[in-house]
Amino acid sequence: MRYNYKDLGLVNTKEMFAKANKEGYAVPAFNFNNMEQMLAIVEACAEMGSPVILQCSNGARNYMGKPVVAMLAKAAVEVAREMGSDIPIALHLDHGSSFEQAKDCIEWGFSSVMIDASHHSFEENIAESKKVAEYAHSVDVTVEAELGVLAGIEDEISNEEHIYTQPHEVEEFVAKAGVDSLAISIGTSHGAHKFKPGDDPKLKLEILAEIETKIPGFPIVLHGSSSVPAKFISMIKEYGGEIKDAIGIPNDQLRGAAKSAVAKINVDTDGRLAFTAGIREVLATKPGEFDPRKYLTPAKKYMKDFYMTKITDVFGSEGAYKKAAK
Ligand code: G3H
Ligand code: 13P
Ligand code: ZN
Repeated sequence: MRYNYKDLGLVNTKEMFAKANKEGYAVPAFNFNNMEQMLAIVEACAEMGSPVILQCSNGARNYMGKPVVAMLAKAAVEVAREMGSDIPIALHLDHGSSFEQAKDCIEWGFSSVMIDASHHSFEENIAESKKVAEYAHSVDVTVEAELGVLAGIEDEISNEEHIYTQPHEVEEFVAKAGVDSLAISIGTSHGAHKFKPGDDPKLKLEILAEIETKIPGFPIVLHGSSSVPAKFISMIKEYGGEIKDAIGIPNDQLRGAAKSAVAKINVDTDGRLAFTAGIREVLATKPGEFDPRKYLTPAKKYMKDFYMTKITDVFGSEGAYKKAAK
């Protein structure tokens, strides 16, 4: 074990999810790829008193490198404490694709992992998820699995259509796999193009409600939940970017879900859009600027402000823990 997550000041998601479900909010899981994003996330959550899951994909881990991911997560805890906040912080592997990958993350300080075997058969998904859960639980790490398939690109595999989670399968799945939370497919999808122009951007909330009756109180996870704010899309276009027909999940659809047994909601794309809009704005309006701090600082501010708004509008997790001074 290179790093034990407890030595980094991190926590697993068990208590976070129990409190979230009891109090009717969802824990934000924001993806990060660099120091600026980590700081924007932790400052926003510390100021709001919201628990947070620092979410890292395998691609992000390859980009940053294993030691950097662990040290950025440790730094996030230090930053929150320095700000006077006691928010719990988890470091979570997003869309883990194998037992070996999940184990490697755990050995490098992750407190929570996802094993996404949702593209396999029901039985194979159970077997793979169970294998990860048994190892992870031996070192007090929590595990998320997925049942159902989101449309769009997921874990480098692309699907034309949603395969919605079948409510009659969830009870058997979580009992046999022994995981701690379950990601479901109810109409969300990854990326900036979640609906076609003219579509009614609605989730299958009736499937969520039925799933909740089958596994009452069990922590449910929603992936692909960016709202794709119009402000960032128009900034990106105004300042020379190209992005067409970008449509996200309306916040009101997600807010209803956050009040239920949905304990974790994943947001990655919105952070990317805020970051890109901020950088483009500076580079387009100040063409002579070449100090990275001059364009990364406003980009970080757009992300931080966005995360805070999302906590208010969707997660409902403000004030669950002590708020840091601004
Ligand atoms: O679900 C996928 C996440 O948005 C991560 O994307 O693999 O490009 O880092 P990524
Ligand atoms: P978005 O692309 O909607 O931000 O979803 C992110 C996600 O689900 C990461 O696992
Ligand atoms: Zn996802």
